[in-house]
Amino acid sequence: MLSKKSVEDLQVKGKKVLVRCDFNVPLQEGVITDENRIVAALPTIEKLVAEGAKVILCSHMGKPKGEAKPELSLAPVAVRLSEKLGKAVVFANDDEVVGAEAKAAVAAMNDGDVVLLQNTRYRKEETKNEEAFSKELASLAEIFVNDAFGTSHRAHCSTVGVTEFVSESAVGYLMEKEIAFLGNAVNNPERPFVAILGGSKVSDKIAVINNLLEKVDTLIIGGGMAYTFAVAQGGTVGDSLLEMDKVDYAKEMIAKAKEKGVNLLLPVDTVVIQGFSNDAESQIVSTLEIPDGWGGLDIGPKTREIFADAIKGAKTVIWNGPMGVFEFSNFAHGTEAVAIAMAEIDATTIIGGGDSAAAVNILGYGDKMTHISTGGGASLEFLEGKELPGVAAVQDK
Ligand code: 3PG
Repeated sequence: MLSKKSVEDLQVKGKKVLVRCDFNVPLQEGVITDENRIVAALPTIEKLVAEGAKVILCSHMGKPKGEAKPELSLAPVAVRLSEKLGKAVVFANDDEVVGAEAKAAVAAMNDGDVVLLQNTRYRKEETKNEEAFSKELASLAEIFVNDAFGTSHRAHCSTVGVTEFVSESAVGYLMEKEIAFLGNAVNNPERPFVAILGGSKVSDKIAVINNLLEKVDTLIIGGGMAYTFAVAQGGTVGDSLLEMDKVDYAKEMIAKAKEKGVNLLLPVDTVVIQGFSNDAESQIVSTLEIPDGWGGLDIGPKTREIFADAIKGAKTVIWNGPMGVFEFSNFAHGTEAVAIAMAEIDATTIIGGGDSAAAVNILGYGDKMTHISTGGGASLEFLEGKELPGVAAVQDK
């Protein structure tokens, strides 16, 4: 149970409530290509609206680095949000974020109205958690609700600083749900507990591997980072991704798995190609004997079976990072095999955000999972066992 005050504990009627959301959604030429983060934010917003709060929403989008960049405006989010809520969302298109326009929009609000501020990262102070901008944000509202799980690993004005200058702060429903699923899975899992890690770099996952080896029954490693483990096992990996400076770490993790009695599963076969395209000629080779001039793009069929079997016996599964270059359909089979195995079992299945969330949704298995996190970096930091500053800053119950 989270010890933080919840949106559920607030009396909000007639009050101005500033809600930090993570509306950092992918945009292509101004069109939102994945609205999951917007949909995930709705329960908190709808509850506040229904209870007659004046709901002021804020978020970042991309990395405008303290400048007003029109291509990173939150305007498209206001439109989509308004459709989803079935009510008007006033967009305070104010490059100062909390300038004259935003203040006027807030002053004109009635109970139950919704205003969305402009991209908080238009202000350079935001990412430095500077007091002046934190105070400006806080001046708009009496209560602050942080529902931006995806940004909770950032100590910024709109996630941390602002909490010091409002009279009350709480976490929203999405934040609670994310922490309940990820926290339960990691700290109180129904066993067998299987974690699957993929993605390209070992260096991104060092702390996660280390922490999960303390908790899981089986750890599956695939994706680009498996080649560094292959070299640690004495293999040769041709032109595959390799972090030579992480080979010793991989050796340590192999030894740690043994010592802890964790079943560490690494790929035994690999789909390799020459070049880098969907149509490149491919062959299947042992992961420990990848020929020169060939690079691994996906786990092979034997590995898919071994991984799927391990997943089938699990009661809790967490997955972060694809098994191969799933963006190329010919090399999505390994990632899909994992998604299918997870979709078919009767267990708690959690997708730890980022690329794996995108993969599961693109491949069409999203609705078969127990929980798909809206956090990429945030869920990784959570799995590393780190405290999330955006959660820590909220008032205790
Ligand atoms: C994310 O997409 O992971 C979050 O919105 C955080 O974005 P950031 O990495 O730009 O801080």
